[in-house]
Amino acid sequence: MYAGLLGLHSLLRWLLIILLVKNIICVNVQSGERFAKNDKKSSLRLLIIAHINLLIGFYQYFTVKLPKVMMEHFTMADIMKTSNLRFWLVEHPTMMILSITLITIAHIKAKKSVNALKTQRLMSWLYILALIIMIAGIPWPFREEIGRPLFRGLYQ
Ligand code: HEM
Ligand code: HEM
Repeated sequence: MYAGLLGLHSLLRWLLIILLVKNIICVNVQSGERFAKNDKKSSLRLLIIAHINLLIGFYQYFTVKLPKVMMEHFTMADIMKTSNLRFWLVEHPTMMILSITLITIAHIKAKKSVNALKTQRLMSWLYILALIIMIAGIPWPFREEIGRPLFRGLYQ
């Protein structure tokens, strides 16, 4: 069960990156009039996938070893000094929650939009920022100590 969720959590990263890039292109390319139809739908699609990964992330964070290790073996000062512990316990969740918050704000703005062009510009910046923060928070394989595979099998 846990391996499957971790595989899904890892796989959804690709979907999120693709949808973010697609949405950034769409909000910049489409004319103001087509906004209501397309951008709201794709911002909702992105939001749902982001929230699913948020939920899986919380599950992983609170049910598995991580917070336990934190409480049983280390003090907060130790964690902040140790780069791999700091990454998993602090940096990854913070960056991802921030990125998902920006995606959520973009969707709320899309829903409430009165001026399509203005909203699209704002959404574009929110998505670009969300993408940069997400890419910075992913444990890419080339990152020392914290590196994880690009693709993880769903059944292990
Ligand atoms: C940790 C779990 C989650 C948190 C903290 C969370 C948080 C939020 C927040 C703050 C909003 C914005 C509400 C607004 O419109 O003002 C929202 C909306 C939404 N979330 Fe989540 N969410 C979570 C999990 C999920 C999951 C698992 C799904 C779907 C499978 C989901 C689907 C949605 C949808 C569809 C909307 C609203 C879309 C709309 O109003 O157009 N969320 N969520
Ligand atoms: C949507 C944004 C997110 C993306 C793209 C993402 C991406 C990833 C990736 C690629 C991994 C490595 C998976 C592997 O080992 O193959 C990972 C692991 C992990 N993520 Fe996320 N994550 C996101 C959000 C979150 C959030 C919000 C939390 C916690 C609140 C979280 C907690 C974790 C934990 C605890 C692990 C390690 C699990 C373990 O090794 O047992 N993630 N994440």
